[in-house]
Amino acid sequence: MRRVLMCPPDHFGVEYEINPWMSRGRRVDRAKAERQWRDLYDLLGDKLGLSISLLRPRKGLPDLVFTANAGLVHGDAFLPSNFRYMERRGEEPVFRQWFEKEGYRIRPLPPDLFFEGEGDVLRVGDRLFAGYRFRSDIRSHEWISKMLGLPVLSLELVDDRFYHLDTCFCPLSDDAAAYYPPAFDLYGRRVIDEGIRRKVLPPTDDALRFACNAVVADRKAVIPAGCGTFRKLLEGLGYEVWETELSEFIKAGGAAKCLTLFLD
Ligand code: ARG
Repeated sequence: MRRVLMCPPDHFGVEYEINPWMSRGRRVDRAKAERQWRDLYDLLGDKLGLSISLLRPRKGLPDLVFTANAGLVHGDAFLPSNFRYMERRGEEPVFRQWFEKEGYRIRPLPPDLFFEGEGDVLRVGDRLFAGYRFRSDIRSHEWISKMLGLPVLSLELVDDRFYHLDTCFCPLSDDAAAYYPPAFDLYGRRVIDEGIRRKVLPPTDDALRFACNAVVADRKAVIPAGCGTFRKLLEGLGYEVWETELSEFIKAGGAAKCLTLFLD
């Protein structure tokens, strides 16, 4: 059974603007956010069969719900994030303490290297695909590769609406991934095309509804609502798919995957 970490949205909101989706003028409906988060939690537990650990929400850390950015877990090692923006740096000690308490080996990167965890580093088979430019530094990739002993393929992100890799790239299995080509430069597209055997390409409408920000485990996928074409593509490959509304979190620039961190 795969384990993930989530954090309830008690203190979630859009209180600053650090990506193009965020606007303090578009207020989050807290009750709606709680329902949407709960629905996602239920789907991940009941349908995907994930075991979910919870982090206690903290006042003043509205983006703590996006646990994918806590860092990167590999075996018993936890590589904590170094957030690019001040606004999120208060989350670092909270995540770190949780992993310390759970008995993980904390393996920090040099503090001057920005690195935003599983938001920017995703594994397909025995390789890591890592995004850089808007959040993580490309130099963080070399460290991660060395620390984990896995090859890393660096992908430049070129559209600031897709500022984390997990907004435009989603591993499906050991040799398959979904991705949205216009979020990458031509070279990055080639790296993905040549490096991954089977690719699923969501259309632009779906990509902008965060289609790639899906949680996938064992041929089952939970995807953001309104991604009908993407859903059919996945179903055509034999995946069982559930759509779920995440409109309140998209106001902060995140959806299903951002709200979860794989712990194994
Ligand atoms: N508001 C958050 C930020 O801009 C959203 C993070 C979404 N997380 C993700 N893994 N894509 O940092």
